Amino acid sequence: MSEKIGVLISTTDVENRIAEVAEQLSKEYEGKVLHIIGVLKGSVFFMCELAKRMTIPVTMDFMSVSSYGNETKSSGVVKLVKDLDDSIEGRDVLLVEDIMDSGRTLSYLVKILKERKPSSLKLITLLDKPDRRVVEIEPDVTCFTIPDRFVVGYGLDCAQKYRNLPYIGVIEE
Ligand code: IMP
Ligand code: MG
Repeated sequence: MSEKIGVLISTTDVENRIAEVAEQLSKEYEGKVLHIIGVLKGSVFFMCELAKRMTIPVTMDFMSVSSYGNETKSSGVVKLVKDLDDSIEGRDVLLVEDIMDSGRTLSYLVKILKERKPSSLKLITLLDKPDRRVVEIEPDVTCFTIPDRFVVGYGLDCAQKYRNLPYIGVIEE
């Protein structure tokens, strides 16, 4: 069975918005080195596009958590699968997510990262589905707020497929 993917947010719209946010963050962190932490694997495409457009020095690290299996529904359990390589103590940290859904992943990560005493910690997400939130947490920067639809592309997967789509799409039944 082959699925049909509809475009929810076009490549141009995603890239324009990322450029806008990169400019805004470059101003906000001017004179500092921004340490960007990506949550694997979904945030990778967004993180690279964002970092490429920043005009301040940037360092990078990655973490991996599991909260979803091959399902489109949350298991409600967040587990740390890969920790950071480097210490974040005293650093200006930007945590980058692909999508904020229930909020469980980010609230778990924020809790463990804050304990490591960064100088500052902000959250940025490419997409936000606020209707689905079960944990009280808001990103500092959201590129797009979307309705409660399961989306793919630009890093987001459905059973590991479609991450490489250059736009945000929805699987049509
Ligand atoms: P949360 O912990 O419920 O906020 O879930 C966040 C994670 O769920 C994201 O990082 C994604 O990996 C996954 N996720 C949530 N919604 C979607 C979606 O619409 N498409 C693909 N992955 C999703
Ligand atoms: Mg993710």
